[in-house]
Amino acid sequence: MSEDTLLQVPLADPLADNRAIADALNGACSKVIGSGRYILGTEVEAFERAFAEYVGSAFAIGTASGTDALTLALLALGIGPGDEVILPSHTAGPTAAAVRNVGATPVLVDVEDESFNLDPRAVEQAMGPAVKAAIAVHLYGRPANLEALLSVCRSQRIALVEDCAQAAGAKYDGRSVGTFGDLGCFSFYPTKNLGAIGDAGCVVTSSKDLSERVKRLRTYGWTKPQFAELEFGRCARMDEIQAAMLSVKLPLLNEWNDRRRQIADRYSHAFADLPLNLPATDDRTQPVYHLYVARTGQRDQLESFLMDRGVQTGRHYPYPIHAQPGLAGSARIPKPLTATEQIGLEILSLPLFYGMTETQIEYVVESVHAFYKQ
Ligand SMILES: Cc1ncc(COP(=O)(O)O)c(C=O)c1O
Repeated sequence: MSEDTLLQVPLADPLADNRAIADALNGACSKVIGSGRYILGTEVEAFERAFAEYVGSAFAIGTASGTDALTLALLALGIGPGDEVILPSHTAGPTAAAVRNVGATPVLVDVEDESFNLDPRAVEQAMGPAVKAAIAVHLYGRPANLEALLSVCRSQRIALVEDCAQAAGAKYDGRSVGTFGDLGCFSFYPTKNLGAIGDAGCVVTSSKDLSERVKRLRTYGWTKPQFAELEFGRCARMDEIQAAMLSVKLPLLNEWNDRRRQIADRYSHAFADLPLNLPATDDRTQPVYHLYVARTGQRDQLESFLMDRGVQTGRHYPYPIHAQPGLAGSARIPKPLTATEQIGLEILSLPLFYGMTETQIEYVVESVHAFYKQ
C-alpha cells in the first residue's frame, strides 16, 4: 500500500467524539462564564445529582480528577501511614499513586488471567493485620469479580473501593459498578467513556458519613459555615465548567457505550479465527470497552506493522506497578504475579472510540488480517 492511501486511525479521538455536540458544549460553557460562579455552584450540584441517579447511588461528590477521587475515598476511610491497601499490580499508575498520596503502603497482587482484574484469591492470600482496604479496578471497562471480592473484603473486615475510572456505565449483575464497594471512584479524563473537557472525577457512595467526609476533604477540610478546618484536607473539587460539560454528555453515555460495544463485537467477530487472544465475555458483566485489548505472543511485530499502516495502538500497561519504584515505593509484593508479568508482554489496545467511522473500523480489521496473511 502506498503512503498516500494510508488512513490514520488514532487509538482514541476525543475531538471526533466532541465535535458532534460542539454547539451544546459551547452553549453550556458560555452559560457558566456568564454566571460569575466558577467553583462549587449549581452546575456541580446538578451534575452530582444526575450522576448519582445514573449509577444508582445515594451520593455523588465531584472531584478534580479520578486520582483525587481515589485519594479522597481512602482519606475518608481514615487510611493513612502505617496502613496497607491491596491493589492489582496490573493497573494504571494513578491507582497506586492514590495509595501513596495518603501515605499508606500499596500491597501489589496478581490479576485474573482472563479478566485482567484483581484476583480475589490473591487478595485473601495477601491479607495481614495492617490491611485496611482493597481497590478493585474495573480495567478496560470490564467489571471485576465483585461477588467474590466483596465476600473476601467483608469476611476480612476491610473496605472495598472500586476504581471505576475506565468503567462509567458498566454493570455487574445489572447494577452499575461503583455501587458495590464502600466507595466508587470515577475519572472523567477527556478520553474516558464519559470525558470532560479537561480533568474531573467523582466519588459515589451510599454512606452519608463517607459522602460528607469526602465533601469536606475535597475543600481543605472546611466545615461550612464556619470554615473551621476539622481535619487536613485537599483542594480537589470539580469546577463548574467541567460539571456543565459533563451534564451535556451524561445523557449520551448509554448510547456512546452501546456504540463502543458494537465496535468491540465487530472486532471480536472479525478476529475470531486469528491466533489472537480476544477479550473474554461473561454473562454477569456488561462491559463498556474503554479499551479493546487483545493478547498475542507476536505483540511487538503486530504493533509495528499496524503503526506502519497508520493504525495507532497502545500498551495498557507495559510495566506493572511493582516494576515502577516511583509508584510502588516500599510496597509489599506478595508473589506470585504470574498473570501480571505475562500480560504486560502480550497486550495490545486497538483503536476504539465513539466517533470512529465505518471506514476506520474496516481499516483496522483489514490491517490486522493483513498482518496474519504476510
Ligand atoms: C484505572 C485508572 N485509575 C485511575 C485513573 C486516574 O484518573 P485521572 O487521570 O482522572 O486522575 C485512571 C485514568 O487515567 C485510570 O485509568
